Amino acid sequence: MKDLKIICRCQDVTEEEIVDAIRKYGLKSVDEVKRVTRAGMGHCQGKTCRKLVEQLLFKVNGFWPDPEEQSTSRPPLKSLPIKLVAASEEDFDAVVARGRGGQHG
Ligand code: FES
Repeated sequence: MKDLKIICRCQDVTEEEIVDAIRKYGLKSVDEVKRVTRAGMGHCQGKTCRKLVEQLLFKVNGFWPDPEEQSTSRPPLKSLPIKLVAASEEDFDAVVARGRGGQHG
């Protein structure tokens, strides 16, 4: 059985898939890898997988990706309690005030 190393857990992308894509398409940057394989498009937004993708780019290409090149990222995600989503506007203000330790009336 083949040993699969998962690089991007949220998108289920393996090291083998990324290395194959780098070789096949001549990828040079983290953003290019992201567009081709989806590694880095998940909830971590590259916080845990970006360094691993950079290491794979180095391993295959023999040079590091340009540090000036910034990959595009999604806005930060944060889970919300369902009561915020379902609340009326007034309830929403009260829930937010409670969350900040304030009073609601
Ligand atoms: S581990 Fe999937 S986006 Fe980073």
